[in-house]
Amino acid sequence: MEIFSISSLLLLFFLPFSSLPSPAIARGGERISSNLFSGSVNSNNWLFKRHLFEANHSPVRGDFAHGYMTNSELEKAVKEFGRRCSKISRIYSIGESVKRIPLWVIEISDKPGQEEAEPSFKFIGNMHGDEPVGRELLILLANWLCDNYMKDPLATLIIKNVHLHILPTLNPDGFTLRRRGNANNFDLNRDFPDRFSPMNDDVDSRQPETKAIMGWMKGRHFTASASLHGGALVANYPWDGTDDRRKWYYACPDDKTFQYMASVYSRSHHNMSLSKEFPGGITNGASWYPIYGGMQDWNYIHKGCFELTLEVSDNKWPKANELPILWEYNRMSMLNLVASLVKTGVHGRIVSSDNGQPLPASIMIKGINYTVKAGRVFGNYHRLLAPGESYEVTVTMPGYKSKATHILLGDEAASLDFILDPVKDPPKQKLPHGCDCINDNNSKLELVELLNGNHLKITLAVVGILGFTCLVLRRKMIFKFRRQKQAMVGNKRQNVV
Ligand SMILES: *[C@@H]1O[C@H](CO)[C@@H](O)[C@H](O)[C@H]1NC(C)=O
Ligand SMILES: *[C@@H]1O[C@H](CO)[C@@H](O)[C@H](O)[C@H]1NC(C)=O
Ligand SMILES: [Zn+2]
Repeated sequence: MEIFSISSLLLLFFLPFSSLPSPAIARGGERISSNLFSGSVNSNNWLFKRHLFEANHSPVRGDFAHGYMTNSELEKAVKEFGRRCSKISRIYSIGESVKRIPLWVIEISDKPGQEEAEPSFKFIGNMHGDEPVGRELLILLANWLCDNYMKDPLATLIIKNVHLHILPTLNPDGFTLRRRGNANNFDLNRDFPDRFSPMNDDVDSRQPETKAIMGWMKGRHFTASASLHGGALVANYPWDGTDDRRKWYYACPDDKTFQYMASVYSRSHHNMSLSKEFPGGITNGASWYPIYGGMQDWNYIHKGCFELTLEVSDNKWPKANELPILWEYNRMSMLNLVASLVKTGVHGRIVSSDNGQPLPASIMIKGINYTVKAGRVFGNYHRLLAPGESYEVTVTMPGYKSKATHILLGDEAASLDFILDPVKDPPKQKLPHGCDCINDNNSKLELVELLNGNHLKITLAVVGILGFTCLVLRRKMIFKFRRQKQAMVGNKRQNVV
């Protein structure tokens, strides 16, 4: 490729110098590139995308792996967990690495593998092969949850109300090679479709690990997620990339929501929020250093999933005897972040007033250019939002009348259900008691005939009975889904619109 010619030589020349003062290139060497070519928006910048330069030296000395699980030990740990905690978990694989190592996922829930009207969260570790702390923390997290179910309120809340999916390692080959990239030496956090450039649009050149993540998300919706990295101590949120390739605070529509989520992590951490480099221990990705083709922005734009990139230790590969303390530092952060899916935000179900059918409607917040979709099976939605503000929530669904309402979101989650009326032709709307229950065309015709006849008393009686039955059915239906809803969040505030 021609773009590799001059610029790559330049980069190779500058790399040793420019990387010296740069302590944390956790999400990538892009920081170097933006310093080098600041302001130059030419196509040569594409070279900093996915394919990493071969390093002659191994970035991590052999003894550093000591005490960390090998890939086969990790696989064993996952399967052992599945056996030990079989009631609240399910083990599955989302694909394979280049070297054909399965990418195992642990799902934790009181009803693993079942679809429920609950939010899902995913944790991804070890996307960069030389950042292995995450994979260890995630195995510890899974086991802690299993050991504390029905003992610790937070563990119980998570297992009962969230479907938590844990992928300890996305890059097992990179881990074995002790380097950032995968076996083809591609940086997986530059391999996703990008918002501003077509650089990763070629499906065939996508890495198997990236394909696995994208395939995973095809049949599943995650409300939020986090990918665990190392090399800094900060909770990073979208956007990661900017439209002009400059380094500046590039806020996404949900900037406030993300600041809140990132703060949940940093403030629950041992000392992340005390950072001198990052106020509050959080950062907008692009204001730190922009990257392109990252997983985080792709999740938010394309998958309705609010993803954070968590840098959990300054040292990418600390000695294994530091892992227990790193787990202690991060434990409450991880738990509180997952629990925030239930404890904050606006949640509810959207059904048709016609027949109580769940509707995969769109939920919009005034002033935030972002749409959250309700689920197809249950019509449930989970809209994360920064607390302490009032919001105007609008729900739209083709074929139905939109509804809007205001809500003041406090420190707790709010429950907000919508019953949408279908857009109908006028005659049908004039049925007695606004009864929507008679969908059947025959019964409607009969009703019309009766009305035209002379049996007025009988007609009125029939209409009355039908109307009453309708009301009862409708009430029952609404009641039922309210009850299901209550069971789901165990919630305090209940609103129906
Ligand atoms: C957090 O604590 C660790 C371990 O004590 C220390 O190495 C690190 O410098 C601290 N970071 C901040 C931002 O206080
Ligand atoms: C809203 O976001 C979409 C992309 O998701 C964009 O095309 C559109 O211009 C935005 N609208 C406003 C008013 O910013
Ligand atoms: Zn990383």
